[in-house]
Amino acid sequence: MASLNFFFKLAFLGCFVFGIAKGQGLYVGYYKAKCPNLENIVRGITSQVIHRAPTLAAPLLRMHFHDCFVRGCDGSVLLESPKKQAEKDAFPNLSLRGFEVIDQVKAAVEKACPNLVSCADILALVARDVTFEILGPYWDVELGRKDGKVSILNEALTNLIPPSANINALIQGFQSRGLSVKDLVVLSGSHTIGISHCSSFANRLYNFTGRNDVDPSLDPRYILELKKKCPPGDQNSIVEMDPGSSLKFDVSYYTLVSKRRGLFESDAALLNNQETRDYLTYQSIRNGPTFFKDFGDSMVKMGRIGVLTGKAGEIRKICTKVNY
Ligand code: HEM
Ligand SMILES: *[C@@H]1O[C@H](CO)[C@@H](O)[C@H](O)[C@H]1NC(C)=O
Ligand SMILES: *[C@@H]1O[C@H](CO)[C@@H](O)[C@H](O)[C@H]1NC(C)=O
Repeated sequence: MASLNFFFKLAFLGCFVFGIAKGQGLYVGYYKAKCPNLENIVRGITSQVIHRAPTLAAPLLRMHFHDCFVRGCDGSVLLESPKKQAEKDAFPNLSLRGFEVIDQVKAAVEKACPNLVSCADILALVARDVTFEILGPYWDVELGRKDGKVSILNEALTNLIPPSANINALIQGFQSRGLSVKDLVVLSGSHTIGISHCSSFANRLYNFTGRNDVDPSLDPRYILELKKKCPPGDQNSIVEMDPGSSLKFDVSYYTLVSKRRGLFESDAALLNNQETRDYLTYQSIRNGPTFFKDFGDSMVKMGRIGVLTGKAGEIRKICTKVNY
């Protein structure tokens, strides 16, 4: 009897510790009983949207990243403020797109399951579904996040890691959020899709150290190609980050970076650390044997950053507004 009791205590303790390690109350299937059709609804809309507008996959994946890195994955990236002082208002130049897709998904979800599913969870599901839709990996999304009530413009400007970040700043930025060096090199692989504005890397082409010089870590032939797309002073033109396959989620990012053709300093920086360099060499030479699996694992970890669960936060009715 005593030993049985001990067994139950152990099992209970086991669940408790396990629960924390799994991300403060998030779990796969959180809405299964109350909203069994949730994932079908989200996938249905996402799939339609990406068929019609494939370039929206990249900014929708990126939106979840920006949400998680500022105040945790709490939907704060979606809030609007009448005085234009929310995170979103830092984004005219940080260039997120696709907010209307989140609104469309939220409206459909509210219709089926009112007041139940957070906007933060919708961002996590949409990020997974757009990735899969463009032939990337599939992973099970942990759910149960609540939405935050605060969004501050300045936090987006100061908490997001700039494209000029060096390897130490990158590692630090990830580690301070519970993400590893491996997560850094794996999640940077999302730059295999999408576009960038010239302004995010023009300094590497024209004025790297303030002496009208170029970034020596960038392939000189690639610099010539990029200069054609981004003439001096051009802030607004866009370039594909992975030329020719920017609409397909594949492993070619690692080959590009290995060839010193990563677009940002933060991409090139992955050559300056043994672990990140080994990872990108391995994925590029072997054609990405573990990249898809790793990406799903790292996305799940990213989705746990600073989440609100249980009685914290709220379920927003409209993703752009707090409830009262
Ligand atoms: C490691 C630090 C990172 C830095 C410094 C960084 C920086 C940037 C910058 C500057 C852009 C281009 C913005 C523009 O000029 O339009 C961009 C685009 C993008 N980033 Fe990152 N990023 C990082 C990590 C991530 C992560 C973790 C993800 C996703 C999990 C991600 C997904 C994307 C995607 C998909 C795009 C293309 C967006 C589009 O096509 O509109 N990035 N990133
Ligand atoms: C974005 O805009 C803000 C305010 O307009 C400005 O201070 C900041 O330098 C801009 N950032 C970039 C990367 O252009
Ligand atoms: C290059 O950078 C230096 C130092 O920041 C600045 O004084 C100079 O005006 C820049 N040159 C151009 C062409 O923008």
